[in-house]
Amino acid sequence: MARKLKNNAKPVQANVTAINEGLMLGLVRQHELTEVAELLNAQLQEEISARKRAEEALINSEKLASVGHMAAVLAHEINNPLAAVTNVLFLAQTTKGLPDAARQYLQMADAELSRIAHITRQTLGFYRESSAPITFHLAILFDSVVNLLQAKQISKRAIIEKQCEKELQMTAFQGELRQVVSNLLMNSLDAIDETGKVTLRATSSRGCNGRRPRIRITISDNGKGISDITLSRIFQPFFTTKGDVGNGLGLWVSKQIVEKHGGSIQVRSHTKGPRQGTTFSIVLPISCF
Ligand SMILES: Nc1ncnc2c1ncn2[C@@H]1O[C@H](COP(=O)(O)OP(=O)(O)OP(=O)(O)O)[C@@H](O)[C@H]1O
Ligand SMILES: [Mg+2]
Repeated sequence: MARKLKNNAKPVQANVTAINEGLMLGLVRQHELTEVAELLNAQLQEEISARKRAEEALINSEKLASVGHMAAVLAHEINNPLAAVTNVLFLAQTTKGLPDAARQYLQMADAELSRIAHITRQTLGFYRESSAPITFHLAILFDSVVNLLQAKQISKRAIIEKQCEKELQMTAFQGELRQVVSNLLMNSLDAIDETGKVTLRATSSRGCNGRRPRIRITISDNGKGISDITLSRIFQPFFTTKGDVGNGLGLWVSKQIVEKHGGSIQVRSHTKGPRQGTTFSIVLPISCF
């Protein structure tokens, strides 16, 4: 009898093992299914964020198109009456028998008008000025940008230092590059305290290992610096920390221009310590075409 019981115990044990194995298999399958579900969920979330990003990009590009259109219309509308007033002022200045004081006032008005004309061409005309790449001296480009922003420099009592070999040349869309340097210099002048300093620097590097020679332009300031959170967004269109005063387009436009020329733009910034301030570096092929 005892022997019979012992013999029957074997199939029962086998059944228990089979059930355990079945349970284990079930658990493994369940685990696998959970993993697949999690993967699908992650893909879905990624898809949703990608769609959101695409929608945002579309809204931004529509905004940008309307800003571009508005800028073109404004530039046109402002330039015409400006030209008329400039002519009238010229005639008034050349009138015979004009008292000296009146002539001086007219000259001052004329100087201010040319400043407005320059700014509308520069800012509203954006970078349409040069239709073909040309070879130009970087020192002259720096001079023209600094001249353009002279009023801002004076009001900030800022020191602007230019470090550029006189003979250094490059071939590019000159108006577009002037736009980039002026956008970066404007940002630096906004960022510094009174009597702060901005340095514009251009150097060339020989092309080695079959690489073309390159130009490096750096714009450094000892201003307030950019926090890490802000830094991650500065190249996005319409991102600004300047409220109503900023459009948040300067860096975005600059990056587009630099990349169009086959170059790259980088930024380093510190908000405290002895190295407080910001440096933008642009590297461009010496001849982009
Ligand atoms: N040199 C700098 N120092 C500190 N912050 C800077 C500097 N350059 C850029 N930034 C930050 O990056 C943001 C984006 O700059 P960007 O030039 O694109 O737009 P903006 O200057 O605000 O407006 P605008 O369209 O008039 O140029 C600025 O609002 C500012 O917060
Ligand atoms: Mg700006």
